[in-house]
Parts: sequence; structure tokens; C-alpha cells
Amino acid sequence: MIVIRNETALDIPAREILLDRALPGRHLKTCEKLRRGQRPADGLAFSAWQGARLAGTVRLWHVEAGSAGDALLLGPIGVLPECQGLGIGTLLMDHALAEASAMNHRAVILVGDAPYYGRFGFSSELTAGLTLPGPVERDRFQGLELVPGALAGATGMVKVGMRVGAEDDRRRTALIELRQAA
Ligand SMILES: CC(C)(COP(=O)(O)OP(=O)(O)OC[C@H]1O[C@@H](n2cnc3c(N)ncnc32)[C@H](O)[C@@H]1OP(=O)(O)O)[C@@H](O)C(=O)NCCC(=O)NCCS
Repeated sequence: MIVIRNETALDIPAREILLDRALPGRHLKTCEKLRRGQRPADGLAFSAWQGARLAGTVRLWHVEAGSAGDALLLGPIGVLPECQGLGIGTLLMDHALAEASAMNHRAVILVGDAPYYGRFGFSSELTAGLTLPGPVERDRFQGLELVPGALAGATGMVKVGMRVGAEDDRRRTALIELRQAA
């Protein structure tokens, strides 16, 4: 049985090993520029467990999708090679998108194989006016609207998101208070 749980810090070593096997070269990808030094969006990093074995992982990140504003970047998603084709990727995608929607996020973008992500409703038409900070094959750059119209007519560069996690919010508030007190 596969169980999807929110990722915890304890999952990280197994997650790294999993991704090195499922996605070698992932650190060289254009999307990595939008993830490096950031934390995944709060509550939107998931692990798929098959008993005590970490079998799959997916994370979503805050980005600013040009004129469309706040959006999420999905990736990397990876499933252990020996567990692929068993529906784990689908479970992770369905869960991640349902949670993102429940948290009132408006849109998700990603770079990946169009035939796979098309089944979840992603389309490269929705990202036609957007650019990423590096090379990408246009048909692999896709979007999904969680709120109808969220990506309609979107143009411009996708940048690291302005929305930050709760921990960063607290730090930023503390800094503002310090500055005001000085
Ligand atoms: C892509 C990945 C996350 C899918 O997870 P999974 O658990 O194997 O997928 P599922 O079992 O839920 O779905 C399997 C279906 O997706 C299809 N599929 C899997 N990978 C695909 C791909 N890269 N392109 C198109 N279709 C793909 C399978 O053919 C199968 O189709 P079917 O249902 O018609 O038989 C996983 O295979 C993986 O980690 N691959 C290597 C890393 C990778 O390529 N990640 C990003 C994809 S761009």
C-alpha cells in the first residue's frame, strides 16, 4: 500500500538518493534556478511511502508567473525506478494538486514530459506568453489553472516567488519591528 504524507526533514536523505536515481542531472535544469536557496511552499512537499521505503517525492514552490502573479512551480517529481508504473506518480500529482487547490493557490506551472502531465490537465498553451530564466523546450513548459483564468494572457518572466513561508514571515516581521524600534 502506498501512503502519501507531508515531507519531513527526516525524509530528506532518502529523497536525495531517490532523486539521484530517478532524475540524474536534475541540478542542471532551468527550474533549479527558481528553487535554489528557496524552501518549498508551506505544506506542499510530499513523500510517497511503500511501507518503510520512500518510493516517491514531489514538491511545489512559490513563483511569480509574470503578469499572472503568484503561482506554484511543481517539481521535481520522482518515483524510484523499481516502483515506476504502479500509479505512485499519479497519487502524488493528484494529492499535490488537490492540496494546492484547497490552499487557494491559483495556478501551477512545470517543465516536463507533456504526455505525462497532460493527463492532469497541464497545457503548454497556458504558458505560451511566459518565459523561464534559462533554456526550455516550449512544449515541455506547461501550466494548469486551479482557478479558471488564472493564467489567461499571462506574459513575462517567471521569477522566484514573493510569497514566503511562515518561518520567513516571522523573521521578516521581527526585522521590521527591530528597524522600527531603532
Ligand atoms: C514520471 C514519473 C514521476 C511517473 O511516476 P509513475 O509512478 O511511474 O507514474 P504512474 O504509475 O502514476 O503512471 C504511469 C503512466 O504514466 C506514463 N508515463 C510515465 N512516465 C512518463 C513520461 N515521462 N512521459 C509520458 N508518459 C509517462 C506511463 O506510460 C503510464 O501510462 P499508462 O497509465 O497509460 O500505462 C516516474 O516515472 C519517474 O520518476 N520518472 C523518472 C523521472 C522523471 O522523468 N520525472 C519527471 C517527468 S518529466
